Amino acid sequence: MRVSVFGLGYVGTVFAASLAYRGINVIGVDIDISKVKIINCGKSYFYEPGLEELIRISIEKGLLKATTNYVEAVKNSEVSFIMVGTPSKPNGSADLRYVELASQMIGKALREKSEWHLIVVRSTVPPGTTINVVGRTIERITGLAMGRDFGLAMNPEFTREGSAIHDILHPSRIVIGELDKRSGDKLLEIYKILHGNDMPPVIRTSIYNAELAKYAANAFLAMKISFINLIARIAEHFPSSDVRDIAKAIGLDPRIGLHFLGAGLGFGGPCLPKDVKALIKVIEDLGEDPALFRSVLKINDNQPKHVIKMGEELIGSLKGKRVAILGLAFKPNTDDIRESQALKLVNELLTRDAEVIVYDPVALNNARHVLGSRVMYASNVKEALKGADLAIIATEWKEFRDVDPDTFRKLMRIPAVIDARRIYEPSKFISKGILFKAIGLGDVGSQK
Ligand SMILES: NC(=O)c1ccc[n+]([C@@H]2O[C@H](COP(=O)([O-])OP(=O)(O)OC[C@H]3O[C@@H](n4cnc5c(N)ncnc54)[C@H](O)[C@@H]3O)[C@@H](O)[C@H]2O)c1
Repeated sequence: MRVSVFGLGYVGTVFAASLAYRGINVIGVDIDISKVKIINCGKSYFYEPGLEELIRISIEKGLLKATTNYVEAVKNSEVSFIMVGTPSKPNGSADLRYVELASQMIGKALREKSEWHLIVVRSTVPPGTTINVVGRTIERITGLAMGRDFGLAMNPEFTREGSAIHDILHPSRIVIGELDKRSGDKLLEIYKILHGNDMPPVIRTSIYNAELAKYAANAFLAMKISFINLIARIAEHFPSSDVRDIAKAIGLDPRIGLHFLGAGLGFGGPCLPKDVKALIKVIEDLGEDPALFRSVLKINDNQPKHVIKMGEELIGSLKGKRVAILGLAFKPNTDDIRESQALKLVNELLTRDAEVIVYDPVALNNARHVLGSRVMYASNVKEALKGADLAIIATEWKEFRDVDPDTFRKLMRIPAVIDARRIYEPSKFISKGILFKAIGLGDVGSQK
């Protein structure tokens, strides 16, 4: 089996390397030559646990190759996956320019090929895009007919950054939106090679269903996070309240489930915010009411401001105070800072003239490009905490969980901590005389 993967970004690279690792011949295509060069050297240009090893092995075995030559890539493969970015436009809708460009490239290449070829959209796209943008673009350029001369499928990507390789090798399900049986069968062949006897549940369905399922999944996850953050906000008003107990009390109900009920700073990253925005636009364009998802975004947007208010309650005005931000990545185990709530928190602090020092185990380089000289950068937790008036946990890195309350107490000027990711046991901090607040934590003490 030989496949080409268009878009060697955070997910395309992991997907390409994982297929190659399982013996499939993969040609990765990107328009960014610098990414192509790094991958061909057996390296990764971003941080994802285990990825570099996978790329190195696949390159050494000759099963993975990266290129900008899309014609060769299509000619030498049977299936092309489109995994390019679909960022937000200013009005929130999905920007499909990269999907269109990839479709044009595949179309041009197909003009030089006579065999049937399958095109699979794995980017997150609004319902109708696979047929009306990808399929129609290729038809226009080639004069061929989808379903007859070439195959078309939509196969949403459910991978999580930070555990992306595991998610691709052991997915909870595979959704195959197929134009026709031949397209679905061909795609399934790839997954049979990838998963062997360990095949996850496969849902074969229409292309529209597959496109919408991806948005529905992300909107649901975002909704769960904003839901528990709103419950957390209520809990904070009552003595001896802790949203973690409430999350457990509801999450153990199998109809609700414990996942994505961790109250905190809110969701960020390259998917949830943009996908909820795009879904809102889809709903509006259909003349339906997106109020539910607007509220999900509103609650999320308010979380950094709420944490600032907590800081002011702890130590008064933040003007001129030194605030240490622990964590910048939108979640642990990635260096991805796209739409990170931590960055929004930093910006809020800067508007209040706080002096901000940041630390993240892997995302500092990416952060420097965005934050520049407006903040100070620490090379470890202790350096960040030294002389600080307030520390805020903004990403739940394991490294932060292991920091002892005494470390905060000894190093900080005012030992004041906001646990915006709920990684600490409050009593351990409060008993040491540390000023402590956390998302979803009411005043500790008597309930009377
Ligand atoms: N990042 C995630 O965790 C994640 C998870 C699930 C789904 N997705 C979806 O997957 C898609 C890709 O996301 P990402 O985070 O990997 O994006 P990304 O921005 O990291 O990477 C996109 C890549 O596509 C390349 N590209 C753009 N146009 C191209 C073209 N015509 N031909 C070849 N390459 C081209 C870019 O140079 C870039 O390297 C998006 O639709 C996203 O919503 C992402």
